[in-house]
Amino acid sequence: MDFPVYHLDFFGNRVLIGVIAVLHVYINHALAVGAAPLITAMEWWGWRWRDEEWDRLAYRMLFVCFVVTTTVGALTGVGIWLSSSLVNPAAIGSLIRVFFWAWFFEWVVFVTEVSLILIYFLTWKRWSGKHKKRHIGIGVALSVFSWLTMGVIVAILGFMMDSGSWPEKPTFVRGVFNPIYPPQLTFRTGYALTAAGLFGLLLTFFFTRQGTALRARAIRFISVWTLVWVPVCALGAAWYWRVIPDHMLANLPVALGTQVLEGWHRTLAWIIAVSAAVVLIVAFWGAALPRRFPAAVLVVPFVLYVGQLGCFERVREFIRKPEVIEGYMYSNGIRKDAFPLLRERGLLTHATYVPMRTITDENRLAAGREIFRIACTRCHTTRGVNSVAGKLQGLYGAPPWDPVVVKSYLGTMHNTRPYMPPFPGTDQEMTALAEYLLLLPESSAPLKGAQVVGVQVPPRNSAVNESGASATGL
Ligand code: HEC
Repeated sequence: MDFPVYHLDFFGNRVLIGVIAVLHVYINHALAVGAAPLITAMEWWGWRWRDEEWDRLAYRMLFVCFVVTTTVGALTGVGIWLSSSLVNPAAIGSLIRVFFWAWFFEWVVFVTEVSLILIYFLTWKRWSGKHKKRHIGIGVALSVFSWLTMGVIVAILGFMMDSGSWPEKPTFVRGVFNPIYPPQLTFRTGYALTAAGLFGLLLTFFFTRQGTALRARAIRFISVWTLVWVPVCALGAAWYWRVIPDHMLANLPVALGTQVLEGWHRTLAWIIAVSAAVVLIVAFWGAALPRRFPAAVLVVPFVLYVGQLGCFERVREFIRKPEVIEGYMYSNGIRKDAFPLLRERGLLTHATYVPMRTITDENRLAAGREIFRIACTRCHTTRGVNSVAGKLQGLYGAPPWDPVVVKSYLGTMHNTRPYMPPFPGTDQEMTALAEYLLLLPESSAPLKGAQVVGVQVPPRNSAVNESGASATGL
């Protein structure tokens, strides 16, 4: 029976994870980790000056953060788990093994965080007057727990970029205290607190009226808040920059744009630097002359934040290529130490979900497609975003392409483009992949995802394997 199929060949696996994860990061930096202490500080300020109007403004800000974090924030958080285990189960499986206790702790912290935000939001109006102090205490606790979740996750992100001495002695402690963890945590902490300020300015635009004293006070308070955290962010960024391994910095030109915009990477870096400067200028302006602040300017910093953080995450994800876990695993989920074996014995022989183990005349195209799925589809599609057909056309012009040339490219792709892993199979498998790639411009159907054809328990009887494969066709 045929089911309707939702395959990923249009936008690819990278975009799937990228969109979900970046949306999550926007929310958790600006609306959770940074916003909890900002709103608590605002609540305290309103309490100190007995200012009810101000207290209402803080409450409305919390309302937005509460709704967004507990809906889109929570869904995208789970979405990262779902998409990464669909796209790269080997990588997420390895991370779970190394960081089991970290994630266990993080889960407890996260559940506490959700409970605290519920309490904080629902008791805001009830715990007023003499109970206000207790309510502010909940805000402080929420701030601490929000930051702790970041504290755990950043250890894992750092590990994926530079696993430090972990490959020599793979212990939990070595995994957590990797070289990139402290600088990245400093940077992200400063950035989240700054970002909350930028989001706060945006909300001020909606929740206050132009020309009112409340707006001027909010602009000044939030601008000063932003300026306080900029140095932490800048310090973290400089420290972070220094610990990024040199070979990763070499990936920067493509990471900042794409291959097409590689030559423009300096211009792009300047655009990012100027946008950071604009944020700083706006914050100074807001702190010094809040009454002269045009309403439209309140929106600008948050828009820039969206651009900057998007670039930052893309660069971080890109520069560690071709590895997904530095020193341990390539982006296509193949362990580095398994590599010599696969080269010698074959990728198909050791793959988990393939219908064939050896290549015959009948199944070679189907085998080529399986090899493409395993070795290339974490980063490429056949005809969508970053399509391999498009890439080959860029290199060799309009099809047909020369099979010998394409095959020899596969043998050296990791040298010419160091962000790609080396081809992980035998010479015969390389030929099969090259033949499959040559046929891409002619085949009309997009490549279906592993969720459709790839997921079958490999039959034990190899005779069944071969015939099953040829039946699949191309
Ligand atoms: C780790 C991710 C990754 C994997 C795995 C990967 N590639 Fe790539 N490849 C890239 C990126 C990124 C580019 C450049 C895309 C851009 O910026 O436009 C690229 C570019 C290419 C190009 C064009 C290179 C050039 O010099 O213009 C070809 C051809 C290519 N890949 C083929 C393959 C094949 C075939 C496989 C599987 C055997 C593969 N790639 C596996 C990430 C990857």
